[in-house]
Amino acid sequence: MKREELIKKYIKFFESKDHAKITNASLIPENDPTVLFTTAGMHPLVPFLSGQRHSAGKRLVGLQRCIRTGDIEEVGDTTHHTFFEMLGNWSLGDYEKEDAIKYSFEFLTKVLKIPVERLAVSVFLGDENAPKDTTSAKVWEDLGISKKRIVFLDKKENWWGPAGETGPCGPDTEMFYWKKQEGEVPEEFDSENENWVEIWNDVFMEYVCDFHSYVREVKGPKDIEEKVSTIKSEQVEKSKKRKVDEPEYILAKQKNVDTGMGVERTIAILEGLEDNYLADMWKPIIEKIEMLSEHAYDEDETVTKAMRIVADHIKAAVFIINDCVVPGNTEQGYVLRRLIRRAIRFGRVLGIEDFTTKIADAVYMIYKDYKLDVKKISLELQKEEDKFLKTLEQGLRMFDKHVSRGKNISGKDAFLLFQSYGFPIEILEELALEKGLNVDVRGYEEAFSKHQELSRTSSAGKFKSGLADNSEETTKLHTAAHLLSAALNKILKREDGELIEQRGSNITAERLRFDFSFDRKLTENEVFEIETLINSWMKTGKDVIRKEMSLAEAKKIGAEGIFEDKYSKVDKLSVYIIDNGKISKEICSGPHVESLKVFAGLTFKITKQKSVGSGVRRVRGELLKG
Ligand code: ALA
Repeated sequence: MKREELIKKYIKFFESKDHAKITNASLIPENDPTVLFTTAGMHPLVPFLSGQRHSAGKRLVGLQRCIRTGDIEEVGDTTHHTFFEMLGNWSLGDYEKEDAIKYSFEFLTKVLKIPVERLAVSVFLGDENAPKDTTSAKVWEDLGISKKRIVFLDKKENWWGPAGETGPCGPDTEMFYWKKQEGEVPEEFDSENENWVEIWNDVFMEYVCDFHSYVREVKGPKDIEEKVSTIKSEQVEKSKKRKVDEPEYILAKQKNVDTGMGVERTIAILEGLEDNYLADMWKPIIEKIEMLSEHAYDEDETVTKAMRIVADHIKAAVFIINDCVVPGNTEQGYVLRRLIRRAIRFGRVLGIEDFTTKIADAVYMIYKDYKLDVKKISLELQKEEDKFLKTLEQGLRMFDKHVSRGKNISGKDAFLLFQSYGFPIEILEELALEKGLNVDVRGYEEAFSKHQELSRTSSAGKFKSGLADNSEETTKLHTAAHLLSAALNKILKREDGELIEQRGSNITAERLRFDFSFDRKLTENEVFEIETLINSWMKTGKDVIRKEMSLAEAKKIGAEGIFEDKYSKVDKLSVYIIDNGKISKEICSGPHVESLKVFAGLTFKITKQKSVGSGVRRVRGELLKG
């Protein structure tokens, strides 16, 4: 099925159920300075989900363009996209979960003709804030989904919202499709099995989330004191009582339904594609890149990844510019600049230059229905590409000098590379990481704000919400990843007695992702113990010290690290030592905080876990306030 056909069918179906079509809103949220971009179909509807009357009525349907920037560095695999489209239907205090589920089921099985044998669902397990959603489970069962294909999952999986920090939210029910073509569809639904792909989410926005503060006794396993051998017991006592800002869930006056179906993903599964980039909203862009670069998409991994990044970033840039943003150094303009410059950098991997507007041409052809402002978009892309290309060579030469000397990049040099050669700090970090070098992000930020003070050209507030915040959060999460690595080894025991080793990590300002050698799901108790241990370490406020040494010396002091090959070529590498090595010693190129004191007021939480290949587990961790 083609993109346009899916959109048409969806809108028509819900119009036949008395829904009014609403317009696809701008990517730049109106009246909401807390977020940079529209990230879901419900975003433009927040005032109406909160009770305001919508002029189109109480039943709405529409397509919404969205941008998610949390995972820019993850783009390059088969499923992550910066720009995507979401179909949705909404009930503003009109129908409730029974009808929402019935509509979803009818659309999937009757309109899209998906056999019920290929479907499974998850529903909310219930907790202290909201009851178990047996109503939804019963509706699914009555519609013909077998009991074994209905699982109850907790808040981490089956609760959606609020979109910002507070606001409408609620339990959800998610629909999954078995994508593997060969073999039988398993009788039982296993949400950990990646062949089950989520295609649609019905959220029952019946709650409003707000925050309230109180002093709480933190309950933990009795033996935690013994496990936390490095912490004095009075500190543990203290850490058990703390002031927390807890989210509070209040029943909303108006019960809403908010649903979301990802267009790219749904088309890929309907077409039986393992790779989203082979679907019709990507293929012409990939073909254009193939033509320009004279490389084949499936030539090798590096080429495939570079083509996906170029396609993704240029498409996102086209839509952001269309919504009146121009490349700049703060907020949305900075994200746009990063996307265009990262696309140019990966274009070089493919041997192409001066290409952004040519690729944008392929984007215009796919999205004719948007009536994109072609002239304006191409002009801005060309301007930004010219600007970056002018200095890119010189900048890369300066960067190469550092590489050949095996020298880390100081804050001053990082700022120079940004200021004179236009290297966004995130791109510099990525380049440095490939070469096993460290960038002094803190020093960079200092140089940046000093410059701002001197030139007095930009307000401090703007700067804060642009660059500085991001890097600070990212740095904290880098250190949190070291604590996580140490805690995993203290709490988990592998059956074969081997140590738990890091297999990879990926860190953005919002979250860390950490892969390690372990072959089963962590139990709830294990997750709790790991979180508790990390949080008690953070409370110690101990120093994080960076020491430079050779690989041999690092090994001698027992520093952990998985990047030996990469580091074997450099004379000196950095080892980050937490609490004189009592908590952790790890070879790493950073960036890291200087003291655990910066975690005051923050709590580390494991928000997701899954298997990523045999014997490797992936967890996602976040730092929450409170
Ligand atoms: N707002 C919900 C989501 O984005 C439907 O998944």
